[in-house]
Amino acid sequence: MLPLILASPLLAPAVAAASGTLPISPRGDGIIRSPVNAIRGPAPKLRGRQNSVEVANQDSGTRYAVEIEVGTPAQKLTLTLDTGSPDTWVNPTCATANVPSDCNSFPRFDYRKSSSFNATDVVDTIVYGIGNATIQYAYETVTIGSATIKHQVIGVAKESHRIPLGILGVSPPLQGTGDYPYVLDTMASQGLIKSRAFSLDLRGIDNPNGAIIFGGIDTGKYIGSLAKLPMLTPEQSPGGANRYYVTLTGVGLTLPDGEATRSDEIDVPVFLDSGSTISYLPTRIFEAFAESFTDGEYDPRSGFYYVPCDVADSAGSIDFYFGSKAIKVPLQDIIWQVDDDYCVLGILPGDVGLDSEYILGDSFLRAAYAVFDQDNRNIHLAQAANCGTHLVAIGSGADAVPSSTGQCTALPTPTATTDSDSATETLDVTATRAPTNTFTGTAPTVALGPGPAASRVSDSGTAGTPQATAGSSGGPGGGPNAAGRGVQVGFGAVAAFVAVHLLAWIF
Ligand SMILES: *[C@@H]1O[C@H](CO)[C@@H](O)[C@H](O)[C@H]1NC(C)=O
Ligand SMILES: *[C@@H]1O[C@H](CO)[C@@H](O)[C@H](O)[C@H]1NC(C)=O
Repeated sequence: MLPLILASPLLAPAVAAASGTLPISPRGDGIIRSPVNAIRGPAPKLRGRQNSVEVANQDSGTRYAVEIEVGTPAQKLTLTLDTGSPDTWVNPTCATANVPSDCNSFPRFDYRKSSSFNATDVVDTIVYGIGNATIQYAYETVTIGSATIKHQVIGVAKESHRIPLGILGVSPPLQGTGDYPYVLDTMASQGLIKSRAFSLDLRGIDNPNGAIIFGGIDTGKYIGSLAKLPMLTPEQSPGGANRYYVTLTGVGLTLPDGEATRSDEIDVPVFLDSGSTISYLPTRIFEAFAESFTDGEYDPRSGFYYVPCDVADSAGSIDFYFGSKAIKVPLQDIIWQVDDDYCVLGILPGDVGLDSEYILGDSFLRAAYAVFDQDNRNIHLAQAANCGTHLVAIGSGADAVPSSTGQCTALPTPTATTDSDSATETLDVTATRAPTNTFTGTAPTVALGPGPAASRVSDSGTAGTPQATAGSSGGPGGGPNAAGRGVQVGFGAVAAFVAVHLLAWIF
């Protein structure tokens, strides 16, 4: 069924770990922390504003990167951290990246210089929301933070398009079962962490505090309780993919004066994707948010909603409700500065086709502290903050993620100047609206992150048993050798990135 099965004894321990029956005693303390930093898009330009360091953090942040080491001796590499895809691979083809010089500015992996490199003959193509990569798999030693993983299957690109950095994939297997043990599986099966869980704390550009913590949480990075939300099953998810899906039950706005509005109850499946620069929501919700920026202009060509950049300086937030938990995304986090002059709302309409996949990307995740617990299929969310560092291990079993309260205190909220009735005003997310103003300028080029991997549902025949072929000719990184296996078939998430604008505002 699955396009790629690596026949390997390595599969066994991962399966055992997944079933929760293998007692695992972690090496070390079972917590692996690695910084995750936003890096600027290809043409970073900072606006001159007073609090420029903090402000710069929101600007042009197009991808979140982790530094890892690959091979023996170790070679340092920078990869995009992606909760929207499971595969980890290196060496994008810079000549066909969106901006080759940007791609070329990052170090590359030279497998010839690694004694632990062990290639297989398995080649596969992964299609992302933006771009694709044809990779050859190999076993390698991978170091993330303090943890060294042996015999990790990684891909080395033979050919890629529109992707500037390799990818560290930490999503669940999109088809429900993995083709091979992914990084998170191997960390658990090799006893580096106690269960397949990690927490993610994305920050803005130039803020060194962002981190991914495998096997742990940092209670110094959020406010209040972590709300435990069940991950939707593939059957409950649009398109049937196994992703970090949760149910969004309401949206709202908190205006600069503190006045709050909230929608009626909604039931929208959304998945959390660190590889998506912006978020994709139903058109009616996008329109309701957009219309609240009265000076904004809708660009029918790109689908973006332009807002004056100084809106990001205002207090106020766009609010997301998951049952009783609210994550309030400050305007400065959700408004995305694409260049010197232009800022856009970090949300696009995402309804495309029958299986629209809605995404909460970086424009949401910057405001959230999120714990991804694959073993128990839960996502835990809290409002992000920063009041120090206090790491707590995630154990194993049903209550592996500690219910520890965040040590940070609530941010001061603006006091509503209007009467209390207006605070309960309803945000109508059912109305069809037309944009008040249309953008007529020259739209800047935007460089978005790769977005999620399309789920691979095709299996075009047999590939034979993959064999380790270290040192064989035609190794990875050589000429293109498209395999044509496992290529995605039509899927909402892919279309969402190419055709979003078609369904936006109704004129
Ligand atoms: C990969 O992307 C390139 C450029 O957009 C495209 O020409 C090619 O058909 C894509 N390959 C697959 C397998 O989707
Ligand atoms: C490569 O993998 C094969 C099969 O798993 C194994 O027999 C061989 O020892 C490995 N070689 C190296 C250099 O790790």
